[in-house]
Amino acid sequence: MSTELWTTRRLLEWTADYFKGRGIENPRLEVELLLATALHTNRVGLYLRYDEVPTDPERTAFRELVKRRAAGEPSAYLIGHKDFYSLDFDVNADVLIPRPETETLVLEGVEFLRARAKENAGFVPRVLDIGTGSGALAVALARNLPAARLVAVDISAPALAMAKKNAEKHSVADRIEFRESDLFAAVGAGERFDLIVSNPPYVSQSEYDALDRSVRDFEPRIALLSGEKGTEIVARIVADAPAHLEPGGRLLIEISPMIAEASLEFFQDSPFIQFNIINDYAGLKRVILAEIE
Ligand SMILES: C[S@@+](CC[C@H](N)C(=O)[O-])C[C@H]1O[C@@H](n2cnc3c(N)ncnc32)[C@H](O)[C@@H]1O
Repeated sequence: MSTELWTTRRLLEWTADYFKGRGIENPRLEVELLLATALHTNRVGLYLRYDEVPTDPERTAFRELVKRRAAGEPSAYLIGHKDFYSLDFDVNADVLIPRPETETLVLEGVEFLRARAKENAGFVPRVLDIGTGSGALAVALARNLPAARLVAVDISAPALAMAKKNAEKHSVADRIEFRESDLFAAVGAGERFDLIVSNPPYVSQSEYDALDRSVRDFEPRIALLSGEKGTEIVARIVADAPAHLEPGGRLLIEISPMIAEASLEFFQDSPFIQFNIINDYAGLKRVILAEIE
């Protein structure tokens, strides 16, 4: 087949079939995203060039992306961004790719702080995001709570660099302070917040070993693996959070259904007066909501 015939249309069709054969979900969408990246355009732009033949360098770039995707690399890393709470986040291999189920934390957090603002004129919500990664939670909360002030911490300096970039991209960098910190280590003894959110690492060692290769081989281990049981980081957050919450303040922490019941145990005999599990869009036990007096 002569190379002239490799139009955008044919590249899309051939590669979608190839991806389908390799068991990749949504093959057509994935191919469109990769080809749009190689052609420095968007999906609409592809259709404007439907019957054109991409240049040799464009086809070489596309082939490289297809090779990496077929080897399991997530397309969010290949195209360099991912949508979360209707906002476009830059991502790279230093940060976890934001997941749709994590949007539950944003929904709950926004609802809680808007209700508090209604009771209290001039209220400036203070929010702490532990393990901010790409900045998904802090940036989405800041965008939806224009008066809020936030602190976002992460143990990973490269992750914080990406979070800052996303805060700038969404014009909220002036309201989010980023700190490199092992959980609460860089949070002052007297610092208190109305809301603490966290999507911490919550995968046990055995779950980690059994993870899909596209996750285990590409996403940061430190973002996923908590320890032998999966509950280690959750336990530390539950122990230290009360000292950093305002009266009536809330903790929203993401968990997996596997550790939901074990995680609730940490709230027994704690200063939290109320705690319960919230399901995500898929109906899975995903978030613990806890409130102090
Ligand atoms: C599951 S990811 C969540 C990222 C982001 N918040 C999100 O929801 O997409 C967990 C994050 O916690 C960070 N992390 C892991 N251990 C930590 C620790 N001891 N202290 C602070 N951050 C930690 C990781 O670097 C990672 O960015």
